[in-house]
Amino acid sequence: MAEGSRASSTKHENGSNYMMGHSASEAERLDRQHIFFRHVVDGHLLSPALGSAIQSGQIRRVLDIGTGTGIWCHEAAATLKEMDVPAPVKFVGIDIAENEHWKGHEDAYATVHFQVTDLNDEVGMSKLTEQFGQFDLINSRMMISAVPNGKWAAYIRRMFNLLRPGGYVQLFEADMINSNTGRSDDRTVAEALVITHAIYSGMGLDPETAVRLAGWLHQAGFTWVRDVAYWCNPVTRQADGSLKIDDILYQWHSTAYGVLKPLFLKVRTSPQYSRFLEKLPPQAINNLGGTSADALLANEADYEDFTRRHEAVLTSNPLYRTAFRLVIAQRPQ
Ligand SMILES: C[S@@+](CC[C@H](N)C(=O)[O-])C[C@H]1O[C@@H](n2cnc3c(N)ncnc32)[C@H](O)[C@@H]1O
Repeated sequence: MAEGSRASSTKHENGSNYMMGHSASEAERLDRQHIFFRHVVDGHLLSPALGSAIQSGQIRRVLDIGTGTGIWCHEAAATLKEMDVPAPVKFVGIDIAENEHWKGHEDAYATVHFQVTDLNDEVGMSKLTEQFGQFDLINSRMMISAVPNGKWAAYIRRMFNLLRPGGYVQLFEADMINSNTGRSDDRTVAEALVITHAIYSGMGLDPETAVRLAGWLHQAGFTWVRDVAYWCNPVTRQADGSLKIDDILYQWHSTAYGVLKPLFLKVRTSPQYSRFLEKLPPQAINNLGGTSADALLANEADYEDFTRRHEAVLTSNPLYRTAFRLVIAQRPQ
């Protein structure tokens, strides 16, 4: 597939059942979401723990798996340039579907190339090293929705094999186990967890992905595993007692449950619905005040009521917070 070629804005012809689909509006959502993620990690698209490897010129060939619109590749390439990493650097972004935002790029400093490759295709993935050589760094951000439950360990082994000895992985995922549970006894907050757990389990995905990444990396043979939690409080209490809303955090959390609504309503009618809630953290169950989790949110009207209450929590409850994990590791030398 040519760099920068026009994309289909419909579902990919290979039949990928990626839960968010592929449309122009989804691409715009991903670009907006990128601004949110960049804010969550304090602007560090490349983990600060990689600083000395970057400064010493060890990161010259980078793979971004599930690149979406490719925005991470372009901004990370600009970051390396600003950090004066010696040229040339090469970025390769792969995805199951072409994206109309893809713009291949080549100048004296950096090449950014995009192509369609399925991360679950063992053969297609192994061909990447024939095409580009081994990578110094692999980035994988918010791929929880792309890797089926039970396939993460194989995905991580595949990344191991694509790296040169001494190369790094950087994984970023939403932590649905710890989000909200410890800081708020609000029932609406517990319902938010019911929604996300039901959707991810019901779609054959693993809601515990973020907290299991470090273990999978160890099992695959990675060393130097660093697992850092980033917490998001959309509203915080100031020294004078007033509440302050962080606009970027608020916007993302406010729109998230609108995006998830059709997915939830679909899994809600499944005969196995109560099984999808098995991984709910105990604290979330406590916060439901005795109501069983599988009796909640029975229909669209209940869901709408939840989104109204969630909106109020977002702007008024400084205990409400969500977590993301940035996990990096190194393939041994
Ligand atoms: C939630 S988006 C994240 C996009 C990007 N990593 C980011 O953070 O902006 C997940 C991406 O994974 C892609 N994807 C889904 N299944 C895939 C597969 N089997 N192989 C490669 N990419 C896949 C989707 O097309 C989508 O672009």
